[in-house]
Amino acid sequence: MSAVVNVAIHRSQFPEAVRRDLLASLRTRRVNHKFHYDSAKQTQKWLALHQAHSPSRNDADCAATYDRAFAGAVGHIAAPAVHVFGLGCGGGQKDTRLLKLLRERGKQISYTPSDVSTAMVLIAWEAARAVVAEANCLPLVCDLATADDLPEVFVAHHGSRITRLITFFGMIPNFEPADVLPKLAALVRPGDWLLFSANLAPGPDYAAGVRRVLPQYDNPLTRDWLLTFLLDIGVERGDGEVRFAVEDGDAGNELKKIVARFHFTRARRIELEGEGFDFRPGDTFQLFFSYRYTPERVCRALAGLGLEVLDSWVTNSEEEGVFLIRRR
Ligand SMILES: C[S@@+](CC[C@H](N)C(=O)[O-])C[C@H]1O[C@@H](n2cnc3c(N)ncnc32)[C@H](O)[C@@H]1O
Repeated sequence: MSAVVNVAIHRSQFPEAVRRDLLASLRTRRVNHKFHYDSAKQTQKWLALHQAHSPSRNDADCAATYDRAFAGAVGHIAAPAVHVFGLGCGGGQKDTRLLKLLRERGKQISYTPSDVSTAMVLIAWEAARAVVAEANCLPLVCDLATADDLPEVFVAHHGSRITRLITFFGMIPNFEPADVLPKLAALVRPGDWLLFSANLAPGPDYAAGVRRVLPQYDNPLTRDWLLTFLLDIGVERGDGEVRFAVEDGDAGNELKKIVARFHFTRARRIELEGEGFDFRPGDTFQLFFSYRYTPERVCRALAGLGLEVLDSWVTNSEEEGVFLIRRR
C-alpha cells in the first residue's frame, strides 16, 4: 500500500466555510451535526458509540437485513461496472460489504468514500482497500449540505458514463428532509441507484413508536460524544445537562424527531473567532436531532422528487429499514 493517499477536498470543507458554519451553529444555538465528527477525538468517540450501540453492529438481525438488502440491490443491477459513491461514509464498513458483494458478482468496482470528516474518509478508504484496487478508490471530503454543485463534482470525480450506486446509510435522519432529499434526487440520474437506510418508528402507532425508541439515545456514550462539541468550545460539564425529547418535525413534514438539547443551569460566555456568545440559566443549545420514518413515510417523502422505492428491507424490530431507490 502506498504511503501517500490523494484526498480531494471540496470547497465546502475549506477552513473559511467551516468557520462560517461553526459561527452559524453558535448564533442559531443549533449544532450543525457535522461538528460532532470534526476532530480525531470525536471520530473515535463516535466509532466507539457506533460499535457499542448501533443495531447494525450489535443486532444479528439488523446485520442480516443489510446483507439481504445488499444482495437484493446487487441483484437488480445489470451494469457490468459500478461506481459506489458512499455519501457520509463514516468508517465505511457497510460500503465495504456492499463492494465485496459487487466484486463477488463479477462487477468492475470503483469507490468514492465521501464525508465531511477527513479522518472518516481515510478510515473508510483503508477498509475498502481490502476489496477495491487503490487506483479505483477516490476519497472526497465534502459537506453535502452546503455544496451546491455536487452533480458536477460527481462527474468530474469519476467520469460521466458509469452506473452509480449512491449509498446514504444512517444519514437521512440527521438532516431536514426538505434540505437533503432534493440534493439526493439531483444526484440520481436515470440508470443510477440510491441505497439508503433510515431509522424507523416501530409498531402501528407512529407517535408511540418514536417514544419507544427514545431511551436508545439516552446513554452515557451518546451524551459524552454530543457534549464533546460544547466542551471543546469552552462550555463546562457543570454548566447544565443534556436532555432528550420527542418533537414534531419542521413545518410541512409529517415526521417526528428525537432532539437532544443542552439546558444551561448557570451562565457561560464563549469567545470564538472574535465573537462573544452569552448563555444564561434556562437557555438551551440544540445538539442533535434524529428523524424517525416509517416505510410509508419514506415513500411519500420521495414521491414528489421523481424517485421511487423499488425494494425495501426492514429489521424484525421494525426500527431500521434499507431502501433501494431509482429515478421514476
Ligand atoms: C451516523 S454517521 C453514518 C456513517 C455510515 N454511513 C454508517 O452507516 O455507518 C454520519 C456520518 O455523516 C457524516 N456527516 C455529517 N454531516 C455531514 C455533511 N453535512 N456532509 C457529509 N457528511 C456528513 C459524519 O462525518 C458521519 O461520518
